[in-house]
Amino acid sequence: MDGDTQRNRPHTARVYDYFLGGKDNYEVDRVAAAEILKWWPHIRTAARANRRFMHRSTRFLAESGIRQFLDIGAGIPTEPNLHQIAQQTAPDSRVVYVDNDPLVLAYARALMTGAEQGALEYIEGDVTEPAAILRALDRTGVFDMAEPVGVSMLAVLHFVEDGLDEILATLMGAMASGSYLVICAITTDFAPDQVKNAQEVYRVRKLPARSRTRAEITGWFAGLDLVEPGIVPPHRWRNAVTPALASYDAKVSCFCGVARKP
Ligand SMILES: C[S@@+](CC[C@H](N)C(=O)[O-])C[C@H]1O[C@@H](n2cnc3c(N)ncnc32)[C@H](O)[C@@H]1O
Repeated sequence: MDGDTQRNRPHTARVYDYFLGGKDNYEVDRVAAAEILKWWPHIRTAARANRRFMHRSTRFLAESGIRQFLDIGAGIPTEPNLHQIAQQTAPDSRVVYVDNDPLVLAYARALMTGAEQGALEYIEGDVTEPAAILRALDRTGVFDMAEPVGVSMLAVLHFVEDGLDEILATLMGAMASGSYLVICAITTDFAPDQVKNAQEVYRVRKLPARSRTRAEITGWFAGLDLVEPGIVPPHRWRNAVTPALASYDAKVSCFCGVARKP
């Protein structure tokens, strides 16, 4: 993308950065974000719940012995980033970030300096081209593919409209037994109008967007063993649900899950 296109079209990474209170966004992103907020006034709560799920799921993977993490749709760096969470539990963790936005990678390279050589890598790749991601991953030499990998795809699959069963089968098919798949994605189940109208803000700008039902998201884990508590909203995944959190399902409007490859 050239500089003009970057500033004239909103981008999912920068809109999300705005929702999280970041500074890496342009006017065009803030205009789209304001429209989304009209339909989905609690989307900031959803973004924060998704980030906290990333913290808990990454910690769970590290505590389960995972030392290689592949984060697809990584986003503009937001502290703490996935590698920082993993390395808190397991300092020898290696992390490869993938995103299809060159801008994200530029921010990532600039902001996440000082990592130990060979422990952190960035790939420009599109989740709709999983074979190309796997080839690029191989070229980095960061992972031993005979060992399990934790594959995280957080707040990214609702930007892919079709073909997810094949994409996930290709990615997880390449991973060793004992690998994990971690997903969080937007659902229409709790507040369909809120979510569909918000999604239209992207679609009218010719950006892909599609939200799913719980049944569809559950289907993405076919052939894998879901860990407890299964497919739930992110604020309910291995979290103490306080009375306040109990009312968050429609505000957050996402489902997440973690599953192990047998
Ligand atoms: C909403 S952000 C989520 C960031 C981070 N995963 C998180 O959960 O906090 C979505 C990210 O996915 C990236 N993305 C969108 N479509 C993608 C695609 N087809 N392939 C790879 N990355 C994509 C965007 O550039 C953006 O950085």
